[in-house]
Amino acid sequence: MRKNIVAGNWKMNTSFNEAIELAENLKSLENTFDKNTEVIVCPPFLYTKTLIDIFYDSSIKVGVQNSASNEEGAYTGEVSAKMIKSINADYVIIGHSERREYYCENDEILNTKLNLVLKNNLKPIFCVGEQLEDRKAGNHFDVIKSQIINGTFGLDKEQFANIIIAYEPVWAIGTGETASPEQAQEIHLFIRNLISEKYGNNIANNISILYGGSVKPNNAKEIFSKTDVDGGLIGGAALNANDFKEIINSFN
Ligand code: 13P
Repeated sequence: MRKNIVAGNWKMNTSFNEAIELAENLKSLENTFDKNTEVIVCPPFLYTKTLIDIFYDSSIKVGVQNSASNEEGAYTGEVSAKMIKSINADYVIIGHSERREYYCENDEILNTKLNLVLKNNLKPIFCVGEQLEDRKAGNHFDVIKSQIINGTFGLDKEQFANIIIAYEPVWAIGTGETASPEQAQEIHLFIRNLISEKYGNNIANNISILYGGSVKPNNAKEIFSKTDVDGGLIGGAALNANDFKEIINSFN
């Protein structure tokens, strides 16, 4: 059966010393984490190797927040999937709404990134989510469907089985407003059904689908209790070790 996963996306936060302190705090709390939940932290690129070294004897996995759409070469400022693999990171967030919106990453670019990440044996966390206008206009199902199909359905079965999906409604990110557990469940089930139609029941039932958008210790339990919600992608609350721990321990 599919894994429960809680991943922290630190975004562009923390100084180097703060990142070390947060990682060490998490490590010291690790023995209190739910053993059945995969815990991932995605720090800013610059701190990735340091965190991998801190967590070398721990079950906490390290991911990154982006990777390049080219393999290697003259692409100033970019970090390739091959480089990420070479320091033994495990996960890569692809298609976060902030990347889609501020860095013009469209479905085609994201599909290229996804393929490079998989080619380098990294595990992608592929993000989808509608804007507030889409939801108000009742277009959210269409938006999610096209992001899933255009972003990921070019993969073959074997590749697809290795991805994690994160549903992050843009209107719930950093706003303090969450999707209701029912709204999250509705979209997660919709995504799982799309996957089932394309790749079959077995793959659909084994893919973890995470919810992201203002998940906090006081709402995580209710959201994670939904059948098709397999955990969370956490922004703000991942910057506090105790809050993150409480979220990790929010599965029934
Ligand atoms: P917040 O939890 O801060 O709303 O961020 C969610 C998110 O974007 C995680 O990727």
